Amino acid sequence: MHDSHDHPETARFWDDLYGQRGQLWSGRANPHLVDVAGPLPAGTALDLGCGEGGDATWLARQGWQVTAVDVSAVALDRARTAATDAGVDSRIEFRRHDLTRGFPTGTYDLVSAQFLQSPLDFPRLDVLRAAARAVAPGGRLLVVEHGALPPWANADHHHDAHDFPTPQETLDGLDLEPGGWETERLDAPRRTATGPDGQTGELVDHLVLVRRR
Ligand SMILES: C[S@@+](CC[C@H](N)C(=O)[O-])C[C@H]1O[C@@H](n2cnc3c(N)ncnc32)[C@H](O)[C@@H]1O
Repeated sequence: MHDSHDHPETARFWDDLYGQRGQLWSGRANPHLVDVAGPLPAGTALDLGCGEGGDATWLARQGWQVTAVDVSAVALDRARTAATDAGVDSRIEFRRHDLTRGFPTGTYDLVSAQFLQSPLDFPRLDVLRAAARAVAPGGRLLVVEHGALPPWANADHHHDAHDFPTPQETLDGLDLEPGGWETERLDAPRRTATGPDGQTGELVDHLVLVRRR
């Protein structure tokens, strides 16, 4: 099922990727989202590129009313199942949406982009600027991205620093209205994670958290 504004190749790529495995991600919420949103009062949240719904389900469990968006129907089906199994599906609206072609309407207390990264042509900063516009007064935008290749990545793949914009570069690229925002976090936290073959390694993430005044 494709809407009139989507890019079938993008949907096909992600549907194929999700289709290769019964489950692509851990199913758990992303740890930096838990750190940031855990202490916040529940409100409305927009989860961009929600994947299999670990974050959306966690947010809904904390009492948030969530709009969860992904281009992949396969991922969204899994996310819906996860939310139903957790008994929080009534608090999540899942929407299939190609964010390169359009953006959900409305404003939210928390807009979260967790690893919204793509090997396809992806106008990342356009999407992140739209994400900032979707933040309600007093609300927050949280962007978490990979800050380096994981230690178990295939070293044959060519990557350069351009693949991992610094938190400051991301913040600058958001073009936020001067004086209208407060930067709450701008850092590169490290965490230990388990690789595809069960190996343990340290990952670096890039994190930007801004609050609209
Ligand atoms: C690396 S995954 C991250 C998934 C999830 N946020 C997480 O942290 O586990 C990127 C997600 O973005 C979605 N995505 C990629 N391009 C997209 C687009 N143009 N519009 C909407 N979603 C997109 C993919 O389908 C995928 O679920």
